[in-house]
Amino acid sequence: MCGIVGVVGKLNTKEILINGLQKLEYRGYDSAGIYVNDGQNGSLVKETGKIKDLEKIITDNISGEIGIGHTRWATHGKPTVENAHPQFSEDERFYLVHNGVITNYDELKSTYLSDVKFVSQTDTEVAVQLVSYFSKQGMNTTDAFKKMVSLVEGSFAFGLIDSQDADRIFVAKNKSPLLVGIGDGFNVICSDAMAMIDQTNQFLELMDGEIVVLEKNVYHIFDKDNKEISRNSYTVDLDPNDISKGTYPHYMLKEVDEQPAVMRKISEHYLSDGINVDADLVKTVSESDRIYIVAAGTSYHAGLVGKEILENLTDIPVDVEVASEFGYHIPKLSKKPFFIFLTQSGETADSRQVLVQVNELELPSLTITNVKDSTLWRESTYQMELLAGPEIAVASTKAYTAQIAIQAVLAKVVGTLLNNEQALNLDLKEELSLAANGMQTIIDEKDMLKSLTHDFFENQDHAFYIGRGVDYAVSIESALKLKEISYIHTEGFAAGELKHGTISLIEEQTPVVAFINDPNTAEHTRGNIKEVQARGANVLVIANEKFAYSDDQIILSSINELLEPLISVVPAQLLAYYASLERGNDVDQPRNLAKSVTVE
Ligand code: F6R
Repeated sequence: MCGIVGVVGKLNTKEILINGLQKLEYRGYDSAGIYVNDGQNGSLVKETGKIKDLEKIITDNISGEIGIGHTRWATHGKPTVENAHPQFSEDERFYLVHNGVITNYDELKSTYLSDVKFVSQTDTEVAVQLVSYFSKQGMNTTDAFKKMVSLVEGSFAFGLIDSQDADRIFVAKNKSPLLVGIGDGFNVICSDAMAMIDQTNQFLELMDGEIVVLEKNVYHIFDKDNKEISRNSYTVDLDPNDISKGTYPHYMLKEVDEQPAVMRKISEHYLSDGINVDADLVKTVSESDRIYIVAAGTSYHAGLVGKEILENLTDIPVDVEVASEFGYHIPKLSKKPFFIFLTQSGETADSRQVLVQVNELELPSLTITNVKDSTLWRESTYQMELLAGPEIAVASTKAYTAQIAIQAVLAKVVGTLLNNEQALNLDLKEELSLAANGMQTIIDEKDMLKSLTHDFFENQDHAFYIGRGVDYAVSIESALKLKEISYIHTEGFAAGELKHGTISLIEEQTPVVAFINDPNTAEHTRGNIKEVQARGANVLVIANEKFAYSDDQIILSSINELLEPLISVVPAQLLAYYASLERGNDVDQPRNLAKSVTVE
């Protein structure tokens, strides 16, 4: 969701900006733009659509040592050239990129800017016009920028250039992610270290409310109270090869294929030579009387599986909460609650607003995320890293299975401390190794899955996934995967619930995918399959070898039943992938979606 890049002090500014924006494409966007200044003249280029469309209109004569760039995911105003960033002031002196949502923009417009002619419908334009307004009142640019930042409410990451003094980038953030990268004779800004990792691996963490003035050889950080402070950079350990597609046609396919390796990595990191989990974290969880898992989308679905694992292995009750709901309707909490935030990106605004409240209540929390040093990572009491490697495709795959595996690690250590019999008997290292093998077996069957997808979903506009217990959790994740990238309207359902209403939607040839991995309910789900088949449904069964019938289409190897989702979701990920491909969709960047959802 919106990406920012900027550089000061490099001759090939234009190339660095475009390259950086390409690395941020995964976040989701619908227009893009750059502003480059050579000390005399500035060039602004903006376009709707993809970076490749922007590149086509960038001419060779555009050059300069300073520039900012942006990918915009429309919130206020349609994705048009006028609404794309950088936005500029009426006098065309100031250029600004912005990530986030300014909530009081209408009020600021009527208070300060009633005489200004606006050219866009964005909230962002108010911010840049305000800088110009305060500059005309006699303030220098640093003070005008600081004044603007002090007035805007909501979430923001800003990068601003003053074309009359084009050797500095003015930077600020609140709630939205933004990093400053430190180079030798140059400095950069970016929403994600990935965008600039080929320039530098030294980054500065920015706190909400801070302002940075960035020149090519120096930077000044001002805290909330306008006091200049110093801060050391940290090294980002990111291999540029991890963010390349290699020989794969799409990131999603690469990331599905990486899942067995991720299982092995998690096992090696957390379970080799004893158990490598923060003892204080384990003690705090074991002393809690209820665990609240807070998450959104696919991470929420991983939390539903985590609930089963944690309750069985620790005997501590677990509630799984949709972040965007929970934050505004906090139920009566238990006496000793413990919060787990599941988030691939570590930046999801819906989850973060809950964490802010949890911190205000001084309650303990754990963030399980793929992005070390992300906002939720920094702001929670404890942290566990997913170790899945960068996930670039918008549709989450390897982060989902890693989230399940990490919750299993936590459940195992907490349950062991609490003398839970299931936890004591669980050989998690062995189970994760079996999961990796089971995943690999499915991954090796890609051709079969491709042709199944064709036979099953061709010309279909609606589909259902059904299951019970953890299979229900996998059903709703599988349905999300199919709908988000194939645009087939898909619902995940508790298998027994269909007959209470939804079965009226089953028609001749309606695709229904059924999961059968839960020993307690395998036979009941078979009954539900018969019910939909009797009404014409075309059923595809994904079953564990223990309960499979000879004519089931996909048969999975068997592991501990609580962990079976690690394997059973993989065929569903591949069905979604091939359905999207077959329909000619943009698999990695489906329409309207963003990878890192930094607005509420
Ligand atoms: C779907 C998907 C989303 C995310 C959701 C939360 O494939 O990826 O549903 O799971 O936007 O994102 P994170 O996990 O970054 O908090």
